[in-house]
Amino acid sequence: MNLSVQIGTLRLQNPVMVASGTFGYGVEYAQLLDLNQLGAVVVKGIRLHPVRGNLTPRTAEVTSGMLNAIGLQGPGVDGFIKKYWPFLKKLKVPTIINIWGTTVDEYAEVAKRFEALGGVGALELNVSCPNIKEGGAQFGTDVKLLRQVVAACRRATQLPIITKLSPNVVNIAPFAKAAEDAGSDALAVTNSYPAMAIDIETRKPKLANITGGLTGPCIKPIAIKLVWEAAKAVKIPIIGMGGIQNAADAIEFMMAGATAVAVGTANFYEPQTPLQVIAGLREFMRQRGIKDVREITGSVQVAR
Ligand SMILES: Cc1cc2nc3c(=O)[nH]c(=O)nc-3n(C[C@H](O)[C@H](O)[C@H](O)COP(=O)(O)O)c2cc1C
Repeated sequence: MNLSVQIGTLRLQNPVMVASGTFGYGVEYAQLLDLNQLGAVVVKGIRLHPVRGNLTPRTAEVTSGMLNAIGLQGPGVDGFIKKYWPFLKKLKVPTIINIWGTTVDEYAEVAKRFEALGGVGALELNVSCPNIKEGGAQFGTDVKLLRQVVAACRRATQLPIITKLSPNVVNIAPFAKAAEDAGSDALAVTNSYPAMAIDIETRKPKLANITGGLTGPCIKPIAIKLVWEAAKAVKIPIIGMGGIQNAADAIEFMMAGATAVAVGTANFYEPQTPLQVIAGLREFMRQRGIKDVREITGSVQVAR
């Protein structure tokens, strides 16, 4: 039975990874599950310099999901290399580094630094963070800027590039196509949805940042639709995510057109979820005599 998939030049032993920002830098989860069983480890977003993030509270539970406004806290490129890379580079599975910047040049510079590091599996461009005021959102919601940022990173590195699209657009197809045309090897669909929650006793927003990103099971059907629409627009592989809690959810994303999937919010309440998804996927294939996981991708039957 083949579970391996290809993302650009990167081969994954199985199609199940973790979603950026929900798995720290891998080391935080090392006691909770065998990281070497994953398709890949994806780390929290990194920009050139350290970032302190937003004031607390930064997370809030909502019905079937959560809100977050972390503000992309992170150690910066140098801090990451010093503190986390010695652990990550010893893993048998690839590390995908989620990167961001406030200018096109910063994205390219961060991409160059990780290319020079050697041993990185791929770069995932976060062009769709809705949480911070200084940049992020405009890259993912403006086709021209998106094309510029992907092209600049393409010139800066030969590492596989995964462009993580924003869900905050009316039609995702032109964004998916722009990323593909600018040299992206794959797409990640999708990031969190802009949202807000209020405590009716205090009349205060539940997040210090007022608004944040909605993730978890409540976004799954919306994310499935985006994957389906993006898959129709491009030939490059898609990594589907948004509310995956079990193998059935992952299979749904794959049937919609995803080659691989990522588990996000579920890592917070059940850290074994990614491994359960892999086991369930294997069982689904065994029961139906599916020999290659790639047969599932795009297999949704749509009447015309
Ligand atoms: C607390 C938190 C932090 C996140 N940080 C990042 C990040 O740094 N970069 C990024 O591209 N996405 C980030 N995301 C988005 C996730 O990677 C993922 O796209 C989203 O949560 C949808 O998947 P889920 O519903 O399974 O959580 C974050 C999500 C959460 C909940």
